[in-house]
Amino acid sequence: MTEAPLKVTTRSAEETQAFGRRIGALLERGDLVLLHGTLGAGKTTLTQGIAWGAGVTKYAHSPTFVLVHEYGGRIPIYHLDLYRLDELLEVHDLGIEEMLEEGACVVEWAEKAPEVFPRDHLAIDVVPGVGDERTLNATPHGARYVRLVRDLREAPSR
Ligand SMILES: Nc1ncnc2c1ncn2[C@@H]1O[C@H](COP(=O)(O)OP(=O)(O)OP(=O)(O)O)[C@@H](O)[C@H]1O
Ligand SMILES: [Mg+2]
Repeated sequence: MTEAPLKVTTRSAEETQAFGRRIGALLERGDLVLLHGTLGAGKTTLTQGIAWGAGVTKYAHSPTFVLVHEYGGRIPIYHLDLYRLDELLEVHDLGIEEMLEEGACVVEWAEKAPEVFPRDHLAIDVVPGVGDERTLNATPHGARYVRLVRDLREAPSR
């Protein structure tokens, strides 16, 4: 099953969050979203929108040295930021499988430990443009995410 990436251009942090909300509204237990993009591209900003869309009301920007934040929404949302990961062992200790049994995972810097994540996932590349412009490319890997991207195309934008 293949599906072309969904490409969305945003012009502010709020627009990126709005796109995140649409994703969050569709997330189910077991879903995995891997975010790619350079430092400051907008991955955390997108995650915030995803959390809100999943029904999280208390989103706090927490210390960056914490690898996992859990937010209670319609389902638990686990926000992982592996930027400061220096021991692969640490990520094995995090218990990705257990998190996916409970809720959905959104991961920044998954490239630090690519082998610990299931192959099926939604990949989102955040590409900075001129000024506040960002291009978000959402690419599905696996049947579940092909469906998710289809739903995302069809879902109303607000
Ligand atoms: N269109 C946009 N989309 C997202 N963020 C934007 C946009 N325009 C400006 N910004 C700003 O860019 C910054 C993005 O920071 P953010 O922490 O989300 O990046 P990040 O990719 O998570 O960085 P890091 O790799 O350090 O974790 C914020 O200050 C945000 O307000
Ligand atoms: Mg970040």
